[in-house]
Amino acid sequence: MIYHRGEVQRAQEFRDYVSPLRGSAHSAVESHGDFTGKSTGHTDRTRGIRITDTTGTIRFLDTTLRDGEQTPGVSLTSEEKVWIARRLDALGVDVIEAGSAITSEGERDGIRAVVHENLDAEICSYCRIREIDVEKAIECDVDSIHLVVPVSDLHIEKKLEKDRETVRNDAIHLCEFAKDHGLIVELSGEDASRADLDFLKSLYADGIEAGADRLCFCDTVGILTPERTTRIFKELSDLGAPVSIHCHDDFGLATSNTVAAILAGAAQAHVTINGIGERAGNTPLEEVAMVLLSLYHRETRINYKELYTTSRLVSRLTGVPVAPNKSIIGGNAFTHEAGIHVHGLLADPFTYQPISPEVVGREQRIVLGKHTGRASIDASLHELGIVASDAQLDDIFTRVKELGDKGLRVTDADLQAITETVLGIYKEAKVKLEELTVVSGNRVTPTASIKLTVDGNHVVEAGIGTGPVDAAIDALKKAISELQDIELEEYHVDSITGGTDALVEVFVTMRSDKKVVTAKGARTDIIMASVEAVIEGINRLME
Ligand code: KIV
Ligand code: ZN
Repeated sequence: MIYHRGEVQRAQEFRDYVSPLRGSAHSAVESHGDFTGKSTGHTDRTRGIRITDTTGTIRFLDTTLRDGEQTPGVSLTSEEKVWIARRLDALGVDVIEAGSAITSEGERDGIRAVVHENLDAEICSYCRIREIDVEKAIECDVDSIHLVVPVSDLHIEKKLEKDRETVRNDAIHLCEFAKDHGLIVELSGEDASRADLDFLKSLYADGIEAGADRLCFCDTVGILTPERTTRIFKELSDLGAPVSIHCHDDFGLATSNTVAAILAGAAQAHVTINGIGERAGNTPLEEVAMVLLSLYHRETRINYKELYTTSRLVSRLTGVPVAPNKSIIGGNAFTHEAGIHVHGLLADPFTYQPISPEVVGREQRIVLGKHTGRASIDASLHELGIVASDAQLDDIFTRVKELGDKGLRVTDADLQAITETVLGIYKEAKVKLEELTVVSGNRVTPTASIKLTVDGNHVVEAGIGTGPVDAAIDALKKAISELQDIELEEYHVDSITGGTDALVEVFVTMRSDKKVVTAKGARTDIIMASVEAVIEGINRLME
């Protein structure tokens, strides 16, 4: 259930709540998307790219398409890279690390496809300290390279089987080589957090001498703490080039360490959407952006309203789900069930929310369940345009609690059904399933045909999909497309009992314009459970 309680007013209240925004970061909310490069730093090549930033605006290098793609099991096609890159550009990131050109011909196709989009963001390729890596990056026509130099003795001796001086010379040579080819160079110290800081500083100094435009400090295995990060970045502040911070989340400190680095002088944060990446992942963009905006009032070029849609796209294309309790972008980040919280929220959303969800492109949600209070039910009925007496409200409240006590989720469709029973009203479903046929197998495109009764008329449609469920839902959506534009926002399957004959419950969240409903279907057949849930949702949306 969603409450639209005057979005304009909410936005004003948000500004009032985080009042320092008026002077500084608020202007970031208003001025995102200015990529003209005017007076914001050194520009290079043809697209108004900023290499550095002299305005104090914190920059973001997004590595979802490189480090994020290194998440086990993730591989993006060129087309998918382009979709994500377009969204990252709209989000306002300064640099998109589109991949590692040396990896394969397919990877180079993906990087080239991103370059051809002519986005405002700088497009970068990861390179090792090898000429061939830089040559492959040049073939892709990228703007910049992320030149990665292993700097800890562990990496230099065990991985490269080299010594510090050889690595230093390679780094200098590759900086010069890349600069000779007109590339922007970000010289990165891999495993810097386990390296000798004096060696690292002298390598950075040599890199700058050889033409490096930016430097980067990598906490490759996530062992920094905020205190140590602060000390290190204070030491790196007088090197004469902007320094980036690149953190991993092995101990859950990636965001804290990234923010500590920025507060101590780092100019750019390396991040991924949803924090995807190897092992425990990288620093999540959405966390750093929102911490800088809301808690430190620092300027970025991030278009905060795009955070949620970008997160959803990346999750869908990579197949890496977002935990419900994940900050900013998790399903529960702005969802409330507990009666005591909802009571407070209805009086003022800031009682139990630190920021207004609209700022990040989301909405507040109130769900019903075991912890629901009367205020939630009252508000939900109000949303549905239903007037119930006190006694009826008591009855509905008791029945909702009973469902919750059984450990069941209470969807909007459940509430509607309970309310209809208690109020003695029965609304006939507009959409009913008459027939469904699905064909699937190893040598056939999953195909479905569906026959519905819609407002008493028969509608027949066919659909295809990546699997039988997808095909069935495709056919269903087409069958009702003339009536309503319906979007399936969330689809979730739970197996209730074990085994292949298990009862499965399908939960869906569906949207039509501003109206959002939840519904469920439970069957031993996952296709039927899915279709049942979606039809239930359609009927609720059509009310
Ligand atoms: O985490 C890391 O050290 C990296 C480098 C390869 C840049 O991703
Ligand atoms: Zn990394």
